[in-house]
Amino acid sequence: MEPETDRRSFLGFAIFGLGTIFSAIIGVPLVCYGIDPRHRKGPKSSFKAVDGIKLDEFSLNDPRQGVIRDKRDDGWIHYPNDVIGRVWVVQSGPRPDLSTPEKVAAFNTSSIVERERYLKVFTTICPHMGCSVNRDSAGGFACPCHAATFALNGDRATADNPAMRGMDTLEWKIDESDPEALRIVVAYKNFVSSIEKKEVIGEEPAA
Ligand code: FES
Repeated sequence: MEPETDRRSFLGFAIFGLGTIFSAIIGVPLVCYGIDPRHRKGPKSSFKAVDGIKLDEFSLNDPRQGVIRDKRDDGWIHYPNDVIGRVWVVQSGPRPDLSTPEKVAAFNTSSIVERERYLKVFTTICPHMGCSVNRDSAGGFACPCHAATFALNGDRATADNPAMRGMDTLEWKIDESDPEALRIVVAYKNFVSSIEKKEVIGEEPAA
């Protein structure tokens, strides 16, 4: 074989070899990232524990704030137990009999309307433009950003309210994995702000 031909063949193999090595260097971590179960999306409406509150500590019309934690990815950084949201929980009616795991399970199968006769859970995110809603001195809730006010049942407190709807409720139930602890879990969601109807971000609006 001619020396010139040899040189070309060698260069061709060298370029191919280097290309393969660089592809592996870039591609293998990407494939591993995709395969790693920590980076797969969880089920959409899974219930999440509410930290910081126990049903035993509640009294009528005395809201408590709880924290929702979950794994969260920010670029290449994985946070295994980050705060993803906060909720206001209000006892709005008498506590049902939850003295046995069977009674807890039966309560959880009742409709959300029935469960809300006992407790209502609201996201702390203001439906006006997304600030965080606090307690107010009048006994309800108020948003510090543009002065939206809400009653304890989540309704808008005044007609001249910048929020176009009341506070957004979240579906909840009692954590059956530890019925004696009497903690709650919620289906945490984010909602579209500044519209009249409650719409979940990323979900088709109900017809
Ligand atoms: S964001 Fe709450 S009143 Fe505007």
